[in-house]
Amino acid sequence: MSQPLPPNNFGAPNGGAPARPGMPQPPRPPMPNAGGMPQPPRPPVPNAGGGVAGSQAKPPLAKPAAKSGRRSSKKLRLGDALIQKGLINEEQLSQALALQKKSGKRLGSVLVEMHVVTETDIVQLLSEQLRIPFIDLSNYLIDPVIAKLIPEHVAKRHMLIPINKVGNKLTVAMVDPLNILAIDDIQLMTSLMVKAVVATPTDIKKALQDAYGAVAQQDKLMDDLEDIGSDASDDDLSQLGDLGENDAPIIRLCNLVISQAVQNGVSDIHIEPFEKELRIRYRQDGVLTTAMTPPKKATAAITSRLKIMSSLNIAEKRLPQDGRIKIKVVNKTIDLRVSVLPVIWGEKIVMRILDQSSLRVNLEELGFEPKTLERFKAGIASPYGILLVTGPTGSGKTTTLYSALTSLNSIDRNVMTAEDPVEYMLTGVNQVQCKPDIGLTFAAALRSFLRQDPDVIMVGEIRDFETAEIAIKASMTGHLVLSTLHTNDAPGTVGRITNMGIEPFMVTTSVLLIQAQRLVRKVCKDCKYEIKPRAEQIGQFGITPELLRRLDLPHINERNMLFYKGKGCETCGGSGSKGRVGVYEVMIMTERLRDIILNGGSTDDIRRQAIEDGMLSLRESALRKALIGMTSLEEVVRVTMGGH
Ligand SMILES: Nc1ncnc2c1ncn2[C@@H]1O[C@H](COP(=O)(O)OP(=O)(O)O)[C@@H](O)[C@H]1O
Ligand SMILES: [Mg+2]
Ligand SMILES: [Zn+2]
Repeated sequence: MSQPLPPNNFGAPNGGAPARPGMPQPPRPPMPNAGGMPQPPRPPVPNAGGGVAGSQAKPPLAKPAAKSGRRSSKKLRLGDALIQKGLINEEQLSQALALQKKSGKRLGSVLVEMHVVTETDIVQLLSEQLRIPFIDLSNYLIDPVIAKLIPEHVAKRHMLIPINKVGNKLTVAMVDPLNILAIDDIQLMTSLMVKAVVATPTDIKKALQDAYGAVAQQDKLMDDLEDIGSDASDDDLSQLGDLGENDAPIIRLCNLVISQAVQNGVSDIHIEPFEKELRIRYRQDGVLTTAMTPPKKATAAITSRLKIMSSLNIAEKRLPQDGRIKIKVVNKTIDLRVSVLPVIWGEKIVMRILDQSSLRVNLEELGFEPKTLERFKAGIASPYGILLVTGPTGSGKTTTLYSALTSLNSIDRNVMTAEDPVEYMLTGVNQVQCKPDIGLTFAAALRSFLRQDPDVIMVGEIRDFETAEIAIKASMTGHLVLSTLHTNDAPGTVGRITNMGIEPFMVTTSVLLIQAQRLVRKVCKDCKYEIKPRAEQIGQFGITPELLRRLDLPHINERNMLFYKGKGCETCGGSGSKGRVGVYEVMIMTERLRDIILNGGSTDDIRRQAIEDGMLSLRESALRKALIGMTSLEEVVRVTMGGH
């Protein structure tokens, strides 16, 4: 319905503007007003907008508050305003007014029905005139938890929907943002300050359906769950191969939890039994928040259901188990890696969502600083040697490796991976799922790879001497080997490998580069503001002209330096940050670095040399992202705490 407007139509001179090109012209009804007869009083703008969808059941418009009263003195009537905008002409207005008189509908609705303007035209105009933000709800996913703050019948009666809550401020999308009665109602009901924004009636109707549909779905589920009764003992449920009718709500709940998580871009789902409650949390952009708390007595049933879905043994409740679920959510096939762990109040289940379509495999898009990317690419271009990606769990290592493999995956190379688990399927890559319980360890897989004529080998992780040794040997016999290690930074990784029992000379001859990484939260683009750093902060972070030169930011100096933060808005759900990006340090094995390692140099010695050889440290890379407004100073501190 929202036709793109030709820009010149917005700035068109008053009156006389032709009908918008491309809009179908309705047949013209007779025009009683044509003879210069006095026109009937036109409704004021807010009413007109409010009535676009013919929401007649609205209470009469309350007296505008002092603030809007000031505005209304200057306010144009809807018809005039549309003419001024060049969206309609005098003739169309007269037609509409005539029709309006006959039908008793509001002018806005009539014009929309005549196809001379769209709802969006009117609402946008309204938004401009009233200086109330317009929100396009058509792509907006409304949180059922927020929607629930206002009862459905109230929301429907006033044609509004709550879309966001930050502190005690509730943002409400309204068809008629000047409906003070409705606003007062809601403020009383919720004890929250209402901030009105305007949206089209069609969008609001649809949002009402979606949001309260989801609320109803969830409420019904919870009710059904209560009905199951707690007499369904653990034993009964563990016998369930087939599911009885009592399980329908459990199945729906499990499906809802997963589909909601997938649609919201959640990375992990936690299902946690405690003494008095069952808690379900989602991790999104690295942060956990509570999604729902189903009745505690549903715990056993939910656990059993998820175990069945993951092909796990439902009778086994004392030992940890790992499984996998493959399901279709909104036409996408989603893989879930499931881990079940006995805890004192039951079994905790964590599901990692592996959304094939969300995999970023383009090295350019991960967030490497330009220079660092060059260094990394030079490493993977090497025909043999070992390349190590390090960092804590969740720092994006697997993503980096898959991206590197994708760029190496060509018809003239045999690419083989040993993984536990295989997280994403890469077409053209020979991926092996390791099974340590039957002896298929990383080391065992690697050993047979060597008889499979590989060019590139990826090993999920190096944890022990055996894997380290064979990976290094493979890299010294003409293969490019990629792997990960759980260490904090690149320089410290050398010590970790030698501690596993690998000789320093093996490290210096095989290692091409060691990369360390973290993920930082990005400042929300929609509520970003600038902060002038204090002089002592500049000192504290060691920002010198020399550093700025190394960061390739020669235009920044102490006077114009700025940092950024998010205030919190609808886009970012009030958190001030949205999405994440990687920060990387890439340490290349240079001749001088080799000498230092062979001479038993400390991690500090190694780091000093690496920086001298052109490495940007994790902290420096993060700082660069803060200086260019991608992340905040807080994130720099968070991810490189105590580090370098
Ligand atoms: N450069 C990046 N930018 C944004 N998100 C990323 C990046 N790298 C990884 N992620 C996301 O972070 C999460 C953890 O990544 P993963 O590669 O599995 O980490 P690890 O292997 O270190 O545990 C995944 O959801 C992934 O999509
Ligand atoms: Mg990983
Ligand atoms: Zn924001």
